[in-house]
Amino acid sequence: MSAALFSIDWAEWLNLALRWLHLTTGIAWIGSSFYFVWLDNHLKPAVHGAASGELWSVHGGGFYHNQKYQVAPPTMPDQLHWFKWEAYWTWMSGFSLLVLVYYLGARGVLIDPSRLALTQPAAIAIGLAALGGGWLIYDGLCRSPLAANPRLFGVVWFAVLVGAAWALCQVFNARGAYLHIGAMIGTVMVGNVFFVIIPNQRKVVAALKAGHVPDPALGKAGKTRSVHNNYMTLPVLFIMLSHHYPMTYGATRPWLVLALIGATGVSVRHVFNLRHKGRSGVAFMVLSVALALVTVAYVALEKSAAPAAGPAPTTYADVQPLFARHCTGCHAAHPTNPGFGEAPLGVLLDSYAHASAVAPRIKQVAVDAEIMPLGNTTGMTRAERNTLGRWIAQGTPP
Ligand code: HEC
Repeated sequence: MSAALFSIDWAEWLNLALRWLHLTTGIAWIGSSFYFVWLDNHLKPAVHGAASGELWSVHGGGFYHNQKYQVAPPTMPDQLHWFKWEAYWTWMSGFSLLVLVYYLGARGVLIDPSRLALTQPAAIAIGLAALGGGWLIYDGLCRSPLAANPRLFGVVWFAVLVGAAWALCQVFNARGAYLHIGAMIGTVMVGNVFFVIIPNQRKVVAALKAGHVPDPALGKAGKTRSVHNNYMTLPVLFIMLSHHYPMTYGATRPWLVLALIGATGVSVRHVFNLRHKGRSGVAFMVLSVALALVTVAYVALEKSAAPAAGPAPTTYADVQPLFARHCTGCHAAHPTNPGFGEAPLGVLLDSYAHASAVAPRIKQVAVDAEIMPLGNTTGMTRAERNTLGRWIAQGTPP
């Protein structure tokens, strides 16, 4: 029994705990943030008192009467709830997960030597620079004259993110690149809470307590950042799910697919915001559907243009050497790779029968997406992947 306890895979349990925490706090953060945007958009001018807007709602067996004071009430209430720990915990758990999975395991899941043979410290440095640099650029844009024009601001910040996605796709594998764009956006969102929204609210509270009239610019800046966060949520949520969908990050131009899906998410969010305000949002509904269809069509066209389905007949004799060089170190009954006591997930690639039985899965992870061989330490090339793809497309001839 003690042997069993010693062999506990703590990293895997920690991974589960962090992911669960990240999801839970993320739901709490985004949920409250969606709620407040919804509330703001539904406020009616207040009938009595000093409030600037109010709303009646019913939920869970009771009636709620919200009142908003823009920028602040005439006197400070005794008790005030601050919404910030949801955001901080989401970032802390997400960042810990990034370190645990992508930085400690950089060799397997972040670095792709066929793109750039990075050392682990170099890969981590690039990843952290992306997170820090993303915040500095975003915050700089917010403090520039550009901020006065919200639409133009949105276009420029979107372009910066697409540029970053392109650049990261040149240095990391596509899954790692996607994740870093998600982490960049998440860092900007929590930076908004930590560096602007909460500090500004503190200044307003301090002014009120001192009997001064708070500067309305403080509330306005907080609101701007909060609206930005609102539009960034759907893209970042997609990135959290993207790992399950190799057809997205596995595309030839993964950054372009990400840009199209990100734009779809922003447009969908806009539909909701318009509808909260009583507008129909039809134009943006049409735009959202069009963007989604363009994404699907683009991925399909890209695939049909790829040489994988070319005519050259390919048999097991052509691909067996590829399995031997790049795969069977791990995917064999007795792996020679010291890191593996048995074939990962029971996937064997050491004979014709074994390999052809898992052909669709091989296509997913080694042809469409480049996540196998794990870490690509053997430097598998695109041409070799295309050969595998042809063999599978031709029905895995013996
Ligand atoms: C260094 C070890 C290693 C090498 C080399 C390697 N794999 Fe894997 N493979 C793994 C691990 C680990 C997993 C399990 C990944 C997971 O749990 O998500 C895996 C999973 C798989 C799966 C199952 C994926 C799924 O979720 O259905 C397939 C298929 C696969 N590998 C194919 C290949 C092919 C093809 C090659 C060679 C081109 C290859 N692997 C090379 C370690 C390796």
